Amino acid sequence: MAAFPRSDTALEAVDLVKTYSAGRKKTPVTALRGLSFSAAQGTVFGLLGPNGAGKSTTVKILSTLSVADSGSARVAGLDVTADPDRVRQAIGFVAQKPGTDPMGTATENLLLAGRLQGMSRRDAKARARELIDRFGLADAANRRVGTYSGGMARKLDVALGLMHRPQVLFLDEPTTGLDPQARSEMWGEIARMAADEQMTVLLTTHYLEEADHLADRLAIVDHGTVVAAGTPEELKSELRGDAVHVELTEADSRARAVLRRVPELREITMDGCTVRGRTDDGARALPPVLAALDEAGIVVTSATLSRPSLDDVYLRHTGRSLEAAADEQPKTLVEVAK
Ligand SMILES: Nc1ncnc2c1ncn2[C@@H]1O[C@H](COP(=O)(O)OP(=O)(O)OP(=O)(O)O)[C@@H](O)[C@H]1O
Ligand SMILES: [Mg+2]
Repeated sequence: MAAFPRSDTALEAVDLVKTYSAGRKKTPVTALRGLSFSAAQGTVFGLLGPNGAGKSTTVKILSTLSVADSGSARVAGLDVTADPDRVRQAIGFVAQKPGTDPMGTATENLLLAGRLQGMSRRDAKARARELIDRFGLADAANRRVGTYSGGMARKLDVALGLMHRPQVLFLDEPTTGLDPQARSEMWGEIARMAADEQMTVLLTTHYLEEADHLADRLAIVDHGTVVAAGTPEELKSELRGDAVHVELTEADSRARAVLRRVPELREITMDGCTVRGRTDDGARALPPVLAALDEAGIVVTSATLSRPSLDDVYLRHTGRSLEAAADEQPKTLVEVAK
């Protein structure tokens, strides 16, 4: 299927499968179970999914840091397994975890990255200066990176990935852990540089808002496979009408059956104390919804109506909300001990 990409396809993953063997006595983890997508040149493509969905694994395979068990991937027209060296030259990679040397300054970190990428000293210096200005780091350029704020450090991570003017940039969760202001600054930078440098950007995120704001097209990933793909608007327009969101004082399994009898409401799902549904006309549906719950003695704390969001799209395809999916992840020992 789709084995021959069109010439304007900058990224293509076809049926990627990846299982990590977790060592003796532990069960292997299947991170990807036939994941496919493609992204056109010069666009920002988003992989949106909860923790453990397989986003980083996909990015690592596409950037040659990991090898798939089966399936194929092409980046900038090159096959990642047949041509890994040329793929590496064509891409910039910004890992989920920072890759800077905290003891070095921004300028030193950038020069080192440029030199490692084979740039001349002169070219690397000029490019470092340009990126420092672009990311608003000029005042701190000669300060040790260890003293930077989270937002500044993340900007430098992105600048490092851009040193050698890659055709394709991989950004693995560029704004996780940043405060809202730093996040919106980063969004501005990403949008600007994608346009200025006519780069293709593959961005992973678990923020719905980020995917909605930045991605020209996106794939929603769940349990190692793509459950929906398209532009944010296309995905949202799959859903007619309004979303109804009702919070109960306590989880009550009868609520779903009660609401099924309200003809205005469809696609009813329950998740703890939260009941969701869809309706063609929210204002008309809300009174009978509240009346039906009241009659059954089910107490409501709040009821809201909203236009479809990407979370509703996720819910439709997976049966749960993105936030609930993130909470499902097993806690690590450190988190449990806190
Ligand atoms: N090196 C590894 N060894 C064993 N299991 C791994 C390894 N890397 C990832 N996994 C597992 O593979 C699955 C997918 O992980 P991946 O890092 O691709 O998810 P992700 O979508 O990037 O999640 P997050 O949003 O938390 O970064 C998870 O269950 C994870 O625990
Ligand atoms: Mg990840």
